[in-house]
Amino acid sequence: MKIEPLTPIIGAEIQGLDAAALSSAEFDALFQAFTDHSVIFLKGQRALTAEEHSAFAQRFGPIHVHPASRGRPADIPGAMTMRTHEESEVAAGNRWHSDVSCDELPPQASILQLHDLPDNGGDTLFSSMYAAYDTLSERMKRYLDGMTAFHSGEEPFSHLFKFQRQDGSQPWPESHHPIVRKHADSGRPALFVDREFTKSIDDLPKDEGRALLQFLFSHLERVDFQCRFRWQENDIAIWDNRCVLHHAIWDYWPQERSGRRMSVVGEQPAAWSLVADCHQPVPTRLTR
Ligand code: SIN
Repeated sequence: MKIEPLTPIIGAEIQGLDAAALSSAEFDALFQAFTDHSVIFLKGQRALTAEEHSAFAQRFGPIHVHPASRGRPADIPGAMTMRTHEESEVAAGNRWHSDVSCDELPPQASILQLHDLPDNGGDTLFSSMYAAYDTLSERMKRYLDGMTAFHSGEEPFSHLFKFQRQDGSQPWPESHHPIVRKHADSGRPALFVDREFTKSIDDLPKDEGRALLQFLFSHLERVDFQCRFRWQENDIAIWDNRCVLHHAIWDYWPQERSGRRMSVVGEQPAAWSLVADCHQPVPTRLTR
């Protein structure tokens, strides 16, 4: 197994592993790389069957079923076809987001394998929410301490993607999550807001909340927190939604890009506390 970081902040490519046939020791090493780099890219893979993809995802934890698929019978629960083509009106993931952050238990890992690629384009960007937090001023960190935000699936799911709920009258998920969450494995603080799902900040006047969110959205999209992945056929990307935002670039229309994604249920986001959690930022050359 060979691990090659893409940047010092986020992302690593991994060669020499077969995702469908990992020993326990190999999975442990892969999980450590996932924790260390926040998003990893498995190179040199063959196309996984949906069963193999599901079995691989379950090594990380129980499968997360997207709200749009809940209540729908499925051979492989949680397997999502990701396909964008000439007739598509929207492309999944074409905005900065953490997958389904509106859920009460938002996904931890998302595991995407792409099988068909456009001639060029269709890269995916990933941004480190550890770096986004660490580079805030101490005053801003104090201001955010203990704050929560409201995440809702209504706008993206009903209006952007025009999904129909399978389970009828249930509303799309809505949740209040800490703005700074403590990562369950690394113990590090990460910003946890995104343009797709985070709609407002709790306990602030509307205008103040909106201005703060706009600042956080533009801050967390800084290019020096990011890596950019250029896909090859059957590559597998595994990102950690607890500390990473991602953005799939739709620059290849009218060509097609397709694959399959499976996600893994995460824990209820826990608040980072400046008082209880004594954090030494990981040294980076990033400046404020
Ligand atoms: C997504 O899962 O949000 C889409 C990622 C991609 O297609 O690159």
